[in-house]
Amino acid sequence: MGYDATDHVEMPPVTDWVNDWDWLDDQWGSNAIDIWNSVREQCPVATTERYGRAFMPVTMEGVAAVANDTEHFSSIWVNVGRPDAPRRPAPPITSDPPDHHGHRRLLLPSFSPKKIALMEQELREYCRGLIADLDGLDTADAAVQYTQHIPVHGICQLTGIPEGDADLFRDWIYRNFQLAPRDNAVRVQVMMEMTAYIDEILRDRLVSPRDDMLTFIANAEIDGEPVDWELKLGYIRLLIIAGIDTTWSAIGSGLWHFAQHPDEVARLVAVGDDDMLWQTASEEVLRFYAPVTMARKVIGETTIAGCPVHPGDQMLLTFPAANHDPEAFEDPHLFQLDRAKNRHVAFGLGIHRCVGSNLARLELLVGLQEWLRAFPHYSLDPTRSTTWANGQVRGPRTIPVLLNR
Ligand code: HEM
Repeated sequence: MGYDATDHVEMPPVTDWVNDWDWLDDQWGSNAIDIWNSVREQCPVATTERYGRAFMPVTMEGVAAVANDTEHFSSIWVNVGRPDAPRRPAPPITSDPPDHHGHRRLLLPSFSPKKIALMEQELREYCRGLIADLDGLDTADAAVQYTQHIPVHGICQLTGIPEGDADLFRDWIYRNFQLAPRDNAVRVQVMMEMTAYIDEILRDRLVSPRDDMLTFIANAEIDGEPVDWELKLGYIRLLIIAGIDTTWSAIGSGLWHFAQHPDEVARLVAVGDDDMLWQTASEEVLRFYAPVTMARKVIGETTIAGCPVHPGDQMLLTFPAANHDPEAFEDPHLFQLDRAKNRHVAFGLGIHRCVGSNLARLELLVGLQEWLRAFPHYSLDPTRSTTWANGQVRGPRTIPVLLNR
């Protein structure tokens, strides 16, 4: 498609996060919270020219102003990458008003609280199965052997996408988020592979319908009109991309955190699964370690926190940074298991607020409960390091632990 290895660009390590930030820098994965806090002390909006001009607001006010303004900021670009990057639709996340509403309305019923609650028991049994696979082991990788599997199982149960292809999905996600922003050839290749795969499973549902979401999407209509095939492919592309490493990162960050806080684990396992403490604890994991950062393309002249932005500029939507803004949260630097007032924006805000939040919350809660009850004394393995994914979805990809049964 006209892209080759020269489409790859190398970037030097960041030394100035205010004027030259880069979300794919090696420091971002493990140190992002310190980076945002340090930027916020200097100014509300950081800039970079690494991917064309792109801005990064780090306050709740700045992030909310962008997320709530669809007149000046478009979702046609939802990640910061090379400005000449080829992009294909994945509605509703890449749609603007007025089209956005119909796409979102189509997907929402499949993620209703009632539908998702029905998945709980099966999901618990699945997590217990993963834990049973660790029988007899003294050490484990809590990311590789546990957290990375839970959301794949959830999304496959919900949609009918074959779970046996999980390695394929994780490989697409890795290349799409970690490599593609700097490499158009990778972006095109991943897009082609995903499109061919999804085209085949959706076409199969047209001839062999089942009682699943794939069949529903294969036949989708909005206001009585069939949806374009390209957009149907985009819905599934989005569910695979949005539904897996997001929750994998949240559960993983929670397990990484609790491995270092045995006092908090003791408080949690002492109460029943329905106790409010579990709810406040998982919301605090979402606030403190919010994994998802989005982006927008500027389509009209405006200012954000006094900073002028122009059509064609990119905006990073750092929901995770807003969750650490002292103007919005009391003692944001403290992880409080029972934080009562917690209006975090891990799931975004405005018209694009996460469609999958009920599913994500269930997977997080169940994933934490089952692990902490099985291994209440686990700790980080001091001989091996946790590794973090940087960029759009930030979270631990390996978490070596001692199980300390
Ligand atoms: C902890 C896990 C998750 C987090 C933190 C998260 C975060 C987000 C955020 C911040 C947005 C807003 C995007 C924007 O403003 O551009 C979003 C949108 C979305 N998320 Fe999630 N997400 C998670 C899990 C999921 C899951 C499990 C699914 C289901 C497959 C999902 C599906 C979606 C969809 C379809 C949208 C687009 C909504 C729209 O454009 O109207 N997410 N998510």
